[in-house]
Amino acid sequence: MIAMNADMRTNPDEPSIATAFGAGGVTLAERFPRNFVWGVATSAYQVEGAAHEDGRGDSIWDEFCRRPGAIKDGSSGEHACDHYHRVDEDIGLIANLGANAYRFSVAWPRVQPLGAGEWNERGFDFYDRLVDGLLERGIAPFLTLYHWDLPQALQESGGWMHRDTVGRFVDYAAEVARRFGSRVASIATHNEPWVVAILGHEVGIFAPGLKSQRVAMQVAHHLLLSHGLSLQAVRAQRCTTPLGIVLNQAPIHAASDAPEDVARARLDDGLTIRWYMDALLRGSYPEDVLEFLGEDAPQVAPGDMAAIRQPLDFLGVNYYSRNVSGTGTSLGPVESGKEVTDMGWEVYPGGLTELLLRLDADYRLPPLYITENGAAYRDRLVDGRVADADRVRYLHRHIAALADALEAGVDVRGYFVWSLLDNFEWADGYSKRFGLFFVDYPTQRRTPKDSALWYRAFCARARTAGPRRLASGGGAGR
Ligand code: FCB
Repeated sequence: MIAMNADMRTNPDEPSIATAFGAGGVTLAERFPRNFVWGVATSAYQVEGAAHEDGRGDSIWDEFCRRPGAIKDGSSGEHACDHYHRVDEDIGLIANLGANAYRFSVAWPRVQPLGAGEWNERGFDFYDRLVDGLLERGIAPFLTLYHWDLPQALQESGGWMHRDTVGRFVDYAAEVARRFGSRVASIATHNEPWVVAILGHEVGIFAPGLKSQRVAMQVAHHLLLSHGLSLQAVRAQRCTTPLGIVLNQAPIHAASDAPEDVARARLDDGLTIRWYMDALLRGSYPEDVLEFLGEDAPQVAPGDMAAIRQPLDFLGVNYYSRNVSGTGTSLGPVESGKEVTDMGWEVYPGGLTELLLRLDADYRLPPLYITENGAAYRDRLVDGRVADADRVRYLHRHIAALADALEAGVDVRGYFVWSLLDNFEWADGYSKRFGLFFVDYPTQRRTPKDSALWYRAFCARARTAGPRRLASGGGAGR
């Protein structure tokens, strides 16, 4: 149980270590090896702004935000956190936190405005400045190629539904890897392909806003194929940077013991976890899901599944909550009577341990990173302070759940808080705040929340407290 105490208020630079790390002599930080990666994460469209500067092309999110009603507060990523212009200041924030890694994404339309043909050097200059700035401050850059911002020009020729887009992505991946491969700590191809496919093409609440299961599953297949083929292409140019992919994953629990609910939960597990994990690590799609999809199953050309199943140097797991499913409920976090965040997502730290143990039992896993974990709360800036005790508790409990998984032998190498800054939360616009830093959008002023001070104290402790490597064999250094 963590409660931010008066120490924080009177001496905001030195939050009470005793309070922040619990009793019992063994602090949370000591449960991790010293070389564990402690980072923060963002994505291009959510923070960069400068949507029409220096030659950047439109993305499907620029287009989607123009649709009346698509974004809750009618906003867009046009200005976001203005990170494009404030990149030096923001690198300073990360350095001040003492985090040793930063996960960011490259906006494809910034570096290749039409998604094919000409490269935009001014766009690449921005990422040069970002990557070099991080390296100068001793922060490892973790690069993601695709965090949902497809060049709009490619959408107009069919987007991810169209097999040609796979080839365009492979060219883009190879070019980014050629330019940045020797400087970044890792390259992830996709962020959360389930979200892109399903929320973007079946549910329609995310760009490009389509509503067809058949299209969504074809998109899911093309995303996975583009992952596999780009790993081949990048490795063919002798890039030795660790390569992987980031999946959103949540344990799916049945709403009740009724056979229909148990069956629905198993199917949802197939649609959200096994579809991606089986394809990536076994080279096949789960039979029960193919059977359920029937005619909506994707067209798979000969050789596709082998192409998808490339050796992974790492797998990124984004964890926020569990999902409860059954015939009477729709798939989604439980709201009634549970502790929830401002997203309505249940706070369920044990699900992280459960998920990691399950993945470890079911698959031959590469090293894992928790590439996103965090929470939105209704933060208020009062007298220069954001007292976000809920977020501190959330982070503490999830990091403890991660420690449990490490101690049980799961090879996890790092953890990234979502997010460095409050930012554009997709269809929720600016109404949800996930940041360690509070952003006052009119002035773009960043203020560290109590959680930022807590994470800073935690990172400082983590650098010296833990074992050089884990006795159990899990974690970094295995
Ligand atoms: C994840 C996304 C990330 C952010 C968090 C809250 O699904 O990858 O961009 O929106 O959710």
